[in-house]
Amino acid sequence: MAENDVEKAIASPSDKSHRNTRRWGRVLQLTIVTLFLVSCVDFVFPFAHKITADNALQTKDPSEEGIASPLESAFLGALDENLAGVWSEKYTSVPHLAGQGVELVNWTAEKFREYGLKTDIESFDIYLNYPVEHGLSLLKDGRNGTRVEYTATLEEDRLPDDPTTDGDDLVQAFHGYSASGNVTAEYVYVNYGTREDFELLKSARVELTGKIAVARYGKIFRGLKVKFAQEAGCVGVLIYSDPGDDYYRESRGDKAYPEGPARNPSSLQRGSVQFLSQNPGDPTTPGYPSQGDVKRVDPHDSIPSIPSLPISMREVEPILKRLNGHGLNVTSIGGERWVGALNGFDYWTGPAPGYSLNLYNNQSYDIRPIYNVYGNISGTDAGGEYILVGNHRDAWIKGGASDPNSGSASMLEVIRAFSQLMEQGWKPRKTIVFASWDGEEYALLGSTEFGEKYAEDLKANCLAYLNVDVSVSGKTLNIASSPLLNNILEEALRLVEYPEGGTLHDHYFGRKEKFGILGSGSDYTVFLEHLGIASVDMGFDSSFKEPVYHYHSNYDSYHWMSTMCDPGFKLHNALARYLGLVALKLSERKVTGFKVSDYARELDLYFKEIEDRVPIGWLRVPSGQCKKTIADSLAIVGDRLEKLKKRAGSFDYYAQELQALWDEPIPWWKRIALHYRIAGLNYKLRYLERMFVHEEGLEGRPWFKHIVYAAGRDTGYEGFALPGLKEALDDDDPVAFGKWLRIIGRTVKNLEKTLKHAKH
Ligand SMILES: *[C@@H]1O[C@H](CO)[C@@H](O)[C@H](O)[C@H]1NC(C)=O
Ligand SMILES: *[C@@H]1O[C@H](CO)[C@@H](O)[C@H](O)[C@H]1NC(C)=O
Ligand SMILES: *[C@@H]1O[C@H](CO)[C@@H](O)[C@H](O)[C@H]1NC(C)=O
Ligand SMILES: *[C@@H]1O[C@H](CO)[C@@H](O)[C@H](O)[C@H]1NC(C)=O
Ligand SMILES: *[C@@H]1O[C@H](CO)[C@@H](O)[C@H](O)[C@H]1NC(C)=O
Ligand SMILES: *[C@@H]1O[C@H](CO)[C@@H](O)[C@H](O)[C@H]1NC(C)=O
Repeated sequence: MAENDVEKAIASPSDKSHRNTRRWGRVLQLTIVTLFLVSCVDFVFPFAHKITADNALQTKDPSEEGIASPLESAFLGALDENLAGVWSEKYTSVPHLAGQGVELVNWTAEKFREYGLKTDIESFDIYLNYPVEHGLSLLKDGRNGTRVEYTATLEEDRLPDDPTTDGDDLVQAFHGYSASGNVTAEYVYVNYGTREDFELLKSARVELTGKIAVARYGKIFRGLKVKFAQEAGCVGVLIYSDPGDDYYRESRGDKAYPEGPARNPSSLQRGSVQFLSQNPGDPTTPGYPSQGDVKRVDPHDSIPSIPSLPISMREVEPILKRLNGHGLNVTSIGGERWVGALNGFDYWTGPAPGYSLNLYNNQSYDIRPIYNVYGNISGTDAGGEYILVGNHRDAWIKGGASDPNSGSASMLEVIRAFSQLMEQGWKPRKTIVFASWDGEEYALLGSTEFGEKYAEDLKANCLAYLNVDVSVSGKTLNIASSPLLNNILEEALRLVEYPEGGTLHDHYFGRKEKFGILGSGSDYTVFLEHLGIASVDMGFDSSFKEPVYHYHSNYDSYHWMSTMCDPGFKLHNALARYLGLVALKLSERKVTGFKVSDYARELDLYFKEIEDRVPIGWLRVPSGQCKKTIADSLAIVGDRLEKLKKRAGSFDYYAQELQALWDEPIPWWKRIALHYRIAGLNYKLRYLERMFVHEEGLEGRPWFKHIVYAAGRDTGYEGFALPGLKEALDDDDPVAFGKWLRIIGRTVKNLEKTLKHAKH
């Protein structure tokens, strides 16, 4: 086998290196530097000397042992100073809805420039709504006609302690991409408004046509609640936060914000109701960039036609109370999962005879500019390859200390630390591009339009996309990623301390076995799922027993962040350290640090899970592949995956050996030859994720082209692996299943072939 020749050629680097080190010491270091200069393969900068020399002392990657390289140490040292709190206060001081807060656009660009980045601002022209006016009343029919029994304010309490909850520049309660309308109708409680919830209501014969749906937040992306309500014939939707979904509750004696960790009863969750799992981006330009005079289509494939409003638990209570005893007792429909924790009534579906809601939603729609800010650090490698790092800047509210500006603060800290390295003469090996996206909240607008506009360049040159949206809303680190990045992600975890003790690695793997699956809900979507670029999303989230995170509410403020969530901004700092290290590890290694065998193993696991779900009756059904049955095709794909796993293992081994050889002192002519061998390997690695792109896309949503990862069709946020197969099972459609088996089988085979020829 070809691999063995290579292995022989490399000949036990570990022993050699230690011997050499002892014998030759400094002489060798000098030799390496000289060889570098002579071979002219790489540009040499002060850090490069030091790092290469140090790496020569060890063949194992030092960070596997939790040891930072000199460059990494210098980076971490720059973050001993922590300015995240300063950036947080700045970003949360003025409203910055998509297209607004131009002051912050300019400030971000100025900061990027100050820190030595080549900086650009780019605008896109997006169809989107700003709120004008709204109203919500509970009406009661009486002998003398209908009267208003109660009117909701749809406003959050202004807190003297928390300045961003007050002022004449607060953002109204509204939903992005919600339809304008003025509807009066009876109303029905629909639990979380999932597809399953609506199906249960239908089978229980609860009348939904012409009604207003009252749903609680949770489980799925809010836009899909509106979509399912619309499909069920509802004419409007109210969405509220139920205390039953919180750990800390006033009813259990916990104090509410600002005194304590429970939810402030007036808080409400703004947010987009676009149909995320259909396609993100400007809904009038699906799949292409919206700039200037582009052709625009009717947006209603991906935005609602019925109005909706968010409401607080305090203000929904009198409304739900009127349903008590009417329609069906919800436990009889869906059990305890349907019962929330509001007091003073049992949960019933309604409708309640004589009671109706008037929901008035006035949104101003127009084509409006949004602003992305980009900043580059040019790398020393020729060839145009780059790493993209992004965070969105826009928020639903004046504050947004968590969402998204904790991420903005962490990212700016990475840039500040990199600027200190640059002042000492460092340049990254690969170009690093930072992006401050606009309009993420409405429909991942800035990143999607960017991805659609620069698709060819991104596919050709972008190695990976690192996303940080919310860097801190709690203390629990979550990471979801393409498996190609696993290795680097894990190495970097060992090098950062968790503020409450141990390393991030201890903290993460103390709770979890592996990194999560990317679905949707943030800016990585276009890069991974439309273009096939390896991506990761990271952040400290609020887990169950932590202070309630007032998501998209006025209480996601600097005051909340600095007093309750991250006093001292230590978690912001930890995330900046982590994000920067991941970027450095991707940029600085000669051999791209992707691990293929993790991908192969994950694919195999996903496939086995699917296989277990295949109904026995399907096995004899033709799969559409030359007289083969589904059982035959399953076996073929299974075999190919086994082969791929083996092949990937030796490929990774080979890649590791090449890196080890590169770190050795070798003669300059060998180094040149090695450079080209590595370039060939890196080339394959760069395009590997692209092999999962299926140009026709998923069934009914062609924008999503990745065959392994996609936004959950019925969840929006949560991702499911192998969506083609999964959806065919969900839809009881063996024909589609056979089709996806063929697509996946073909891809696995091509992948295996690509890895096989790595060395020629
Ligand atoms: C932002 O910068 C642009 C271009 O320099 C300038 O025209 C505009 O007035 C600035 N806006 C704000 C709000 O600072
Ligand atoms: C930053 O780098 C990207 C990728 O190479 C390139 O497309 C873009 O033009 C660069 N921007 C600046 C401001 O140099
Ligand atoms: C209806 O109107 C009559 C006469 O104006 C009044 O006496 C009565 O109290 C009203 N009833 C209700 C239920 O409001
Ligand atoms: C909404 O419609 C009702 C009639 O159904 C009308 O009385 C009310 O004035 C309308 N509200 C607005 C703000 O237009
Ligand atoms: C609702 O239904 C459940 C189960 O069917 C029953 O145990 C409960 O007592 C009912 N509650 C009310 C208020 O009728
Ligand atoms: C929305 O508000 C605008 C401005 O106040 C008004 O002209 C328009 O008629 C309203 N639209 C609806 C549907 O009530």
